Amino acid sequence: MGRVFVAGSINMDVVATADRHPRVGETIAGKEVLYFPGGKGANQAVSAARLGATTTLIGRLGRDAFGAELKAFLADQGIDLGYVQETATAHSGTAIITVAEADNTIVVIPGTNALVSADDVTVVPLLKGDVAVSQFEIPLPTIAAFFRRARAAGATTLLNPAPAQKFSRELLALVDILVLNETELGLLSDTALNENTDHAGIIEAAQRLQANKSQIICVTLGKRGVLALAGNEELVVPGRIVKAVDTTGAGDCFVGALASQLADGVALREALRFANIAASICVQRMGAGPSMPTAQEVAAVIAAR
Ligand code: RIB
Repeated sequence: MGRVFVAGSINMDVVATADRHPRVGETIAGKEVLYFPGGKGANQAVSAARLGATTTLIGRLGRDAFGAELKAFLADQGIDLGYVQETATAHSGTAIITVAEADNTIVVIPGTNALVSADDVTVVPLLKGDVAVSQFEIPLPTIAAFFRRARAAGATTLLNPAPAQKFSRELLALVDILVLNETELGLLSDTALNENTDHAGIIEAAQRLQANKSQIICVTLGKRGVLALAGNEELVVPGRIVKAVDTTGAGDCFVGALASQLADGVALREALRFANIAASICVQRMGAGPSMPTAQEVAAVIAAR
């Protein structure tokens, strides 16, 4: 059985809840301030670990109160933190999040996440069968170094290019599995996509982006489920109707769950179904890191179908 290695961000999410989002320049009264462990990298690692994968997180924390809290939470999840360094020269990553009407806005202040270096990620003991996961809250050259190391070891590389930004074809070519939502796909493929774009339109955009025929592109479509392009094959996983209270971290939950299943040798179609269920559980709870489901919770949904 392979393991999951996540090189990525660790943030404290400072969440304000309100009945609605303020307009630009407007002040409104909120309801609560909540503090949740978050950061796309940490969320993905929590997701994989809670679903049973042997998981290592590579990243950086500040020597501050948020850093200590985040470390304690991540250690409690059974994640190997041997490659998480403490850095005195910057504060721990922090995200300022507003949640209203089950939707969010997020401002991320990277802090120590911006200092995760190529040297940090190339020392990890990756092996054939492992899955190396990253996202765009650490420097892109670091991700490229991590994936080169993973490729040399025979591991599978999985990139979640979020928050979306344009990136080089060289980095894209190092990716075996790309997981992104339709907004990110639209930006990266220079295609106008929205929540009403049909499957054919999404697949066309994915084909435009695909670096080579063996690259797998998984597009998460929220309530509409998941669409994947694997070689020339198209895989469709329908969405689950649930009552969402907070979608923060749902994409990360999907990525971690997918990595956990692929590391376990599960076939892509089944792994996508599993990850879709995991994300549908995550959105029914407040917060990012603590909302990730366990393997038992996903199994209960599968058993009830
Ligand atoms: O994807 C959700 C995450 O994005 C939050 O936990 C926040 O920290 C930001 O990184």
